[in-house]
Amino acid sequence: MLDLQSQISNIEAEVSAQVTGIKSDEDLKLARAKYVGKKGVVTGLMKFLGQLDASERPEAGKKINTLKSSIIRLLDEAEGALKSQFIAKALKEKVDITLPGRQVAPPGRPHPVTQVMREIEEVFTSLGFSIYEGSEIETDYYNFEALNVPKDHPARDMQDTFYISSKEEGRNKKEEELLLRTHTSPVQIHVMKKFKPPIRMIFPGAVYRKDADITHSPMFHQVEGLMVGDNIRMSDLKGVLITFVHRIFGEGVGVRFRPSFFPFTEPSAEIDIECVICHGKKQVNGSPCRVCKQTGWMEILGCGMVDPNVFEAVGYDPKKVSGFAFGMGVERITMLKFGVSDIRLFFENDLRFLKQF
Ligand code: PHE
Repeated sequence: MLDLQSQISNIEAEVSAQVTGIKSDEDLKLARAKYVGKKGVVTGLMKFLGQLDASERPEAGKKINTLKSSIIRLLDEAEGALKSQFIAKALKEKVDITLPGRQVAPPGRPHPVTQVMREIEEVFTSLGFSIYEGSEIETDYYNFEALNVPKDHPARDMQDTFYISSKEEGRNKKEEELLLRTHTSPVQIHVMKKFKPPIRMIFPGAVYRKDADITHSPMFHQVEGLMVGDNIRMSDLKGVLITFVHRIFGEGVGVRFRPSFFPFTEPSAEIDIECVICHGKKQVNGSPCRVCKQTGWMEILGCGMVDPNVFEAVGYDPKKVSGFAFGMGVERITMLKFGVSDIRLFFENDLRFLKQF
């Protein structure tokens, strides 16, 4: 027992002496390994316990544990001292507070199309519409067939639509024709198959067409809307969409509904607003307005009452429910709102352009 006690005292004295010599993290690591590591001095002492009489073991074990704790405390103190030395040294290094600051990058902001997309979403959610997102890859059935788009419709042409796979003879007959959706209208079909009326939703997202010039981009964004329920009428469509136009373009702007055609709505209409450039006057400073091509009006969206054939395709009874749908191009609305004349500017990511929004 005495033997153990003297060993403990020796080790304690040794550690106290060594600790003052610790000058780096490396020294500290070595000291920890040497005394309290797996193969260290304290572990060695523990082995010695086996040689003792069973009655002496508990007390001897206690002593070794106390030794271990005090070694750890000493080493922790040494570590604390090392850290404060490091900080003191760092603080002594001189800082020249007269140097000019480093340039901070200007803050970013959402892309103009994203800004307008959010504005549109806010208008409709405030009117009780919820937001649902479909998929950009669709089948021919959802993009065309269920929407009453006939097989010979020009939009189905390879010239206009990006097809991903084709149902050629000899290939798996079950494989569906996949394409990049050409509009957000297929989401109408998914939603009506999934939910029962009443439905009041908008579907924002990217769409694709083989088109590229100053007013067309092969990828652009649409916001689709669908309201279906009991006795939903054309007057509901007008009320909702006139409210929308006034909130986006201002209360005073003139709006007109012009008869049109879409395979999935009947009757169908397009909405025009008074030209934001010439304000319906067809002229700017005495020269003809080029933006509205001197008509005084600009088309902003397509809409109509859901065609009974579409209701039948989703298993709704057209005698019991009615509804309206609409679809708009977000880039187009952004261009009209801010007077941008070339759609490609939205996709070039030129900061000189983007900074203006
Ligand atoms: N899907 C049509 C388009 O892309 C827009 C539309 C949507 C028209 C819903 C009527 C109803 O042009």
